[in-house]
Amino acid sequence: MKMDLQAVYDGFADTYEESRGLFDMSEVLESFYQRLGAEAGDLLDLGCGAGEPFGRYFVDRGWSVVGVDFSARMLELAARYVPEMQTIHSDMRTVEFEPAQFDAVTAVYSLFHVPAAEHPALFEKFRRWLRPGGKVLFTYATREYTGCDEFDGFKEFLGKQLYYSHRTPEHLVSDLEYAGLAVESLDYRDIGGEIFLWVTACRPL
Ligand SMILES: C[S@@+](CC[C@H](N)C(=O)[O-])C[C@H]1O[C@@H](n2cnc3c(N)ncnc32)[C@H](O)[C@@H]1O
Repeated sequence: MKMDLQAVYDGFADTYEESRGLFDMSEVLESFYQRLGAEAGDLLDLGCGAGEPFGRYFVDRGWSVVGVDFSARMLELAARYVPEMQTIHSDMRTVEFEPAQFDAVTAVYSLFHVPAAEHPALFEKFRRWLRPGGKVLFTYATREYTGCDEFDGFKEFLGKQLYYSHRTPEHLVSDLEYAGLAVESLDYRDIGGEIFLWVTACRPL
């Protein structure tokens, strides 16, 4: 059955403990953190879920973290696991921030749930919300996950039908450049048997 994505994630929150910390994300975290090269700063985590591992990792290193998620139940978990993180219950497509408010923006395993047609508007906001030199990291779905060069539809995950959307990596790069973000790295990573494209881009100085 195709449920509303927000309701699906509210449901996943009930069984979150069963898969908590199952996947080792340390390499992704450390390589992004080193790329930032900052002692501490402000992170915006879009689709923060339970606040792990990203919110937790940055808070532990003295960063101030704002997490945004449209699942109220996931945010209840975040309040328990990362109480230091400020959370906003909102759709990432409608939330607003001041220009140059963040040193880093992450959208880990979440941006692919937003229709690809709406990615350019989000990329434009990422550039605006980042300080010059600030960086964004997100997970992008590709043929390696959906089996298609471009995809806009549902795939099964943990027994539920979830909405995913992506275009080709070439199209993604041109959308990022058009938004004024310089692509720094594109890495296919297999984490827990799922291959996604991990993208970092920078707001030029
Ligand atoms: C697979 S989980 C990933 C959570 C966390 N980033 C992590 O790495 O564990 C995807 C999260 O994105 C949230 N999400 C998906 N689409 C969203 C949207 N348009 N606005 C806000 N949150 C969204 C879901 O509620 C869910 O908590």
